Amino acid sequence: MKTLTVVLGERSYPIYIGENLLSEADLLTRHIKSKQVVVVTNENIAPLYLQNVLTHLDGYQIESVILPDGEQFKTLNSVNVIFDKLLASKFSRNATLIALGGGVIGDMGGFASACYQRGITFIQIPTTLLAQVDSSVGGKTGVNHSLGKNMIGAFYQPQAVIADVDVLDTLDNRQFAAGLAEVIKYGLIRNLEFFVWLEENIDILLARDKIALTYAIEQSCQMKAEVVAEDEHEGGVRATLNLGHTFGHAIETGMGYGTFLHGEAVAIGTCLAADLSKRKGFLNTNDVARIITLFERANLPVKSPTELTSERFIDLMTVDKKNVDGEIRVILLEAIGKATLPMAVDNLSLTETLQNYGR
Ligand code: NAD
Ligand code: GLY
Repeated sequence: MKTLTVVLGERSYPIYIGENLLSEADLLTRHIKSKQVVVVTNENIAPLYLQNVLTHLDGYQIESVILPDGEQFKTLNSVNVIFDKLLASKFSRNATLIALGGGVIGDMGGFASACYQRGITFIQIPTTLLAQVDSSVGGKTGVNHSLGKNMIGAFYQPQAVIADVDVLDTLDNRQFAAGLAEVIKYGLIRNLEFFVWLEENIDILLARDKIALTYAIEQSCQMKAEVVAEDEHEGGVRATLNLGHTFGHAIETGMGYGTFLHGEAVAIGTCLAADLSKRKGFLNTNDVARIITLFERANLPVKSPTELTSERFIDLMTVDKKNVDGEIRVILLEAIGKATLPMAVDNLSLTETLQNYGR
């Protein structure tokens, strides 16, 4: 097992990464501070892994909340179901919430933990590749609004992240590929060497070779931990983690939550950001081709859905947390391995990318 640390003073916490971690009771119980524990998961994950967690909690007052599965349920209504359970069970401020699931469950479990009695203990057990490399680390929590993705939320760090790579065995190929989109993101924004490693190893990653997979998760979490330690509340460098996300969130909102997986939308968004970076004179044609090729090899979509006109796309992009005074700002690439901070982009350049991408 490898242990990384997100260094945030008194709120520092470990990320445990390795095989068979769900069978280790102590990894979990050492972070639980009272007898009251609620496990939040969904109806797809519960039959697979809920018992593995509950088995370590004999002697605790355990409650489970099993939510419906899907991005379309990442709502305030679902979070309210968690509050209902906590209140009905008379859970107090020293209770612990365990989020067992992908990014949807992690984001909602974290948000419920931040709000319930102004903050209870929160543990992340991420079960998708995307959640293990990105969403479970860093304390961004929240829900979607019909007018904008992740628009309601809070920064709230977990006490620990337990990433058991064995749970990825049950993930379907589409979800697995979606996680690779965020892995590729780390190479693009801050590590050329890792990007090259991904080019060389994408096939064995897709075959889910455990050694390669564990390495990719460790590298990704290490980079995320460094960024979060430097800029927890996204005043600067943390925004680079949003490469491709302004485009991606527009696709998710515009096409209806759940139509494109988050990672798929990020893959398309990153290709659009790469195209825009070339138009701004940063990347060359070969760089853009390398980026698109890697996403394609990872079985990810690279083209924007034709249903979204460029006008509608740009309108959707005006609802983004990086925007200032209504001005659209995106992360671009100066080079493979080096992202810019958010840059204002004019509608003309955006339209050019949206209409002529790949040309
Ligand atoms: P998800 O949580 O919807 O999980 C994907 C699917 O896989 C679901 O159907 C789920 O039930 C299923 N699943 C989960 N684990 C499984 C397993 N081990 N075996 C079989 N099936 C399993 O999606 P996701 O891609 O994990 O997360 C996407 C969400 O994460 C989005 O809402 C996105 O906004 C959010 N996100 C948040 C952050 C952050 O920093 N907080 C970062 C990136 C993404
Ligand atoms: N996924 C973006 C962030 O955590 O900042």
